[in-house]
Amino acid sequence: MMNESPSARGVQRYIEEAKEVLLERERRWQRAKGMRFDTIAVHGLYTVDEAIKKNQGAIIEPLFLSSAQAYRDADELEAALSYQIPTWCYTRIHNPTLGYLEDTLALLETYGSDVRAGCCVYSSGMAAIENVTDTLLVRIGNERPNFVSQCQIYGGTFQQFNVRKMQERGIEVRWVLEPADIDEWRKKIDKNTRFLYAETPSNPGLQFFDLKPVIELAHSHGIPMVVDSTIASPALMRPLTFGADIVIHSATKVMSTSGMGMAGAVIARQPIVSNIPNGEMKADFALYLKRYPQRDQGGCLHPFQALMTLNDLRDLRHRVDRLSENALIVARFLASHPAVLEVNYLGLGDHPRHKVASDYFFLVDAEVDPRYQRPVNRYTHLLAFRPRGGHEAARRVFDRLQLIYRATDLGRVKTVATIPAISTHLLQGEECRQMACIPNDLIRLSVGAEDPQDIINDLKQALEGR
Ligand SMILES: Cc1ncc(COP(=O)(O)O)c(C=O)c1O
Repeated sequence: MMNESPSARGVQRYIEEAKEVLLERERRWQRAKGMRFDTIAVHGLYTVDEAIKKNQGAIIEPLFLSSAQAYRDADELEAALSYQIPTWCYTRIHNPTLGYLEDTLALLETYGSDVRAGCCVYSSGMAAIENVTDTLLVRIGNERPNFVSQCQIYGGTFQQFNVRKMQERGIEVRWVLEPADIDEWRKKIDKNTRFLYAETPSNPGLQFFDLKPVIELAHSHGIPMVVDSTIASPALMRPLTFGADIVIHSATKVMSTSGMGMAGAVIARQPIVSNIPNGEMKADFALYLKRYPQRDQGGCLHPFQALMTLNDLRDLRHRVDRLSENALIVARFLASHPAVLEVNYLGLGDHPRHKVASDYFFLVDAEVDPRYQRPVNRYTHLLAFRPRGGHEAARRVFDRLQLIYRATDLGRVKTVATIPAISTHLLQGEECRQMACIPNDLIRLSVGAEDPQDIINDLKQALEGR
């Protein structure tokens, strides 16, 4: 201590000063933990106190467009850049506006549990998937890492795994064809497996399976379970609360429902299970991503988009409820229409995965919502159907849509349709589509918040060719 240099003492002074900031943050976190889902979605960690003391009373979280943070002196700069005090530093590393979104997402994904999690947001869902998976696919010695994934996943993710990782870089992805079969997952794991990957439910095939045994299997091998939960959103299912390690979102979708931008998010349990000997990474995976891989690779979210997504999130529960109710009404109509061969919607009672979906998908806080006062199953905004007559007939139905947009998008307040075989899942080719059960005549429908009768009227005229 006697030989401590003036600069070391200066750095230490800032570390001491930051302790109060961290304590205050912890107090706000605990306070938020005692609040209901809707309140967290509306406020996150932003408080009246912060608004008055720091932001001129602004009731909406401020937008920090500055690319960099200034420091009082060299000691504070060193304390910040060595990550010894809370800092945002440079927007590629962090930014206060991103922080508001990240706190809210971490709280929503762990809602109703004691699980502690961190969040790191990205410029898109694909950037989030890439950063998570590449970070976990680190080489240890001469081992060649592999990972095990269900094959029914979003087309972009399939290409990232199959082409970018496997074909271009020789990192083996081991596809699970039937994810409900726990033995298939088990047989594909070996000592070089770094993680298991699921998309629940999957886009567009709505594959879904009992997640808990697969999470247990991952943990019994000392590896993390990574779940893309984009379609469900935390309003219906929160995989971290029943054991998953890392949740990924394309926050572009139902979280940014007004459809004006792209965003991705990673929410990770503290700590995650992993066979990688890196204590810092395991302790707080989201913070690790932010401090190192994302910092070095870019892919950061723009603060303006963070604020837009945060603003869209505030009524997530109500919106997911409404979209899911509409989707069920539309699915029932399609199921009753003679020109429809098959409807794939998890909410239909005769769907082969309806029962298992009913064990997982509950509208959060329905028990305390005066409209329901009981647990309520909701099955998301996403469905798919096959008109009779094959691919060309499907194209004709699709082309006749007048209210519904033909676009590769989902989770919108407006109803949107696409044919995955010629759009989202085109690049993966016929063979891989067959493996993932995506027929060429499948129309994917993301049901919006319009009056469902108008959606039905549009589908009816398109199916009947009038
Ligand atoms: C389930 C799922 N995950 C990830 C993505 C990729 O997200 P983004 O488009 O934000 O990059 C998508 C996009 O459609 C998706 O549907």
